[in-house]
Parts: sequence; structure tokens; C-alpha cells
Amino acid sequence: MAQAGSPGPARRAQRSVRIAPSILSADFAQLGDEISRVTPEADVLHVDVMDGHFVPNLTIGPPVVTWIRRHCDLYLDCHLMMDNPGKFLGAFRGAGANGCSVHVEIGGTAGLIAQMRDLGLDVGLAVNPETPFEDCEPWLDQLDLLLIMTVHPGFGGQRFMSEVVGKIARARHAIDSAGLAVDLEVDGGIDVGTAPIVTEAGARLLVAGNAIFAQPDPVAAAHRIREAAQAALATVSPEGLASEL
Ligand code: DX5
Ligand code: ZN
Repeated sequence: MAQAGSPGPARRAQRSVRIAPSILSADFAQLGDEISRVTPEADVLHVDVMDGHFVPNLTIGPPVVTWIRRHCDLYLDCHLMMDNPGKFLGAFRGAGANGCSVHVEIGGTAGLIAQMRDLGLDVGLAVNPETPFEDCEPWLDQLDLLLIMTVHPGFGGQRFMSEVVGKIARARHAIDSAGLAVDLEVDGGIDVGTAPIVTEAGARLLVAGNAIFAQPDPVAAAHRIREAAQAALATVSPEGLASEL
């Protein structure tokens, strides 16, 4: 459960930006090698699960997570773009997921949060670009992670939606004002150009697929994104974040 109170260790950790390579843009025929290549620059591994209903695409499920778990020790951050994640949360936990994010748009959020907590999963809530922050705000103090989509979910390699930046800033303000230790993750169109923008707005966990795995040297690409974000963070004080709103 997210703990109130600051400044604590979690709050201090907010002074660094972490990188979550998304395997959606990896070569799935060589997934183990692809993961090993980015591991030196991966704080978290982002696993996109799509059901063909909530989003118009299909990807992977618990069996693949099981094999990823056997292959690496990285924290597995499973982004469930599904209409019925509740049916599969136990399987993801059993497969070795550390945290799961369900979308607020599907409803049933209270039950899904309770189910994730009972399973020992870190609890994430994801929000689409067009969904207002108000829809996730009531759940904020029950979350470990808020995942703000900066593209429409379903595909990698899309263009960053700058209209979502205000929502990131609002979320950062709400998290800090309440003294919560909720991680703020952004997902979609993150690269060296957009990483500073989302970091200045308040994101601290950056998902990147295309900008890492589609590059000739993925680990160097991830490192450049981290450096760009970290440089932006150095210009932002926690007090400054709140007063920017
Ligand atoms: C999109 C996924 C993202 C995707 C991001 O629906 O949730 O995690 O992998 O890919 P890029 O970084 O290429 O926009
Ligand atoms: Zn994702």
C-alpha cells in the first residue's frame, strides 16, 4: 500500500528517473537475447498485454511471462490492456509478475485493486489519454503506480501526445500534496526529445519501446533517454513542481 508521509526513502527516490524498456518493440523470436541486451539500462521491464478487445491488438500472456521470469531478475511491470484482467491476475502473479496495471476505463477498480493486493502484486492503475485525471484520483492513495498513457494504447512507435502533459503535472501535484509514494509512469512516444518534457511534468518511470528496441544499440539508446531525463530532473525542485501548476 502506498504510504503517506514525507520526506521518506520513497520520496527521495523520486529524485531519480527510472527506465522501463517495453518489450513490445523487441524481436519476439529472440526475446531472451533482447532482454539481456537492455538489462544494464533497465530498472524495470515493461510487458504489454493486449487482449484484442480493450485494444485492437493481441500480444502475450502469462506463459510468456513465465519464460521471461526464468530468464531474468528484472522487476516485471505488466501493463494489462484487457477488458477482464481480473480473470488473469492470479496467473500473472504465478508467472512471476511483480506489478500489474489495470485500466481505469474498464471499471470495477475497487475489486481489482483488492485482488492485486491479496495476490501480493504491486498495484497499478493505467489511464488513457482522453480519460481525465479525476477518474483515477479517488484511487490514488491505494496505488503503488499510476500509469499515464501518452499515446492511445495498442501499438508501439506512435507519436507522443503533448496534450497529456498537463495531466502528468496534475498527478504529480496530487501525489506530492498528499505525501504519497505512488510511482508516476508514462507510456508512449517516449524518446530523448520527450523524456525531458514528461520528467519536468513529474513522471519518474519512463516506458520506451520503439526508442530503445528499434535502435541499432538499444542499451546506448536507453542510456541517452535516462541522461536526457536526469538532466531535466536536475532543473526541477519538488517545490517548483507544485508551483508550476
Ligand atoms: C502501447 C504500449 C506501450 C508501447 C510503447 O499501447 O502500452 O508500452 O510499447 O511503445 P513506444 O515507446 O514505441 O511508444
Ligand atoms: Zn505499456
